[in-house]
Amino acid sequence: MEQTNQPTIQVTASGKVVVTNAKDVVLLDGEGNPIAKRNRFALCNCGKTQDGPFCDGAHKE
Ligand code: FES
Repeated sequence: MEQTNQPTIQVTASGKVVVTNAKDVVLLDGEGNPIAKRNRFALCNCGKTQDGPFCDGAHKE
């Protein structure tokens, strides 16, 4: 994949959703409240995480 400084969202083969260059990305919960996040993070797309909305690696189990 081409390197870019733009925010990118990648759905990986394992199911997680990786967000990079996310400095200006606002992540909100279901009620519209901001969720603290890093410049690069992965969102769970499998429903197994214990650290929602972030992937904690539970999809591997
Ligand atoms: S995608 Fe990784 S824990 Fe769900």
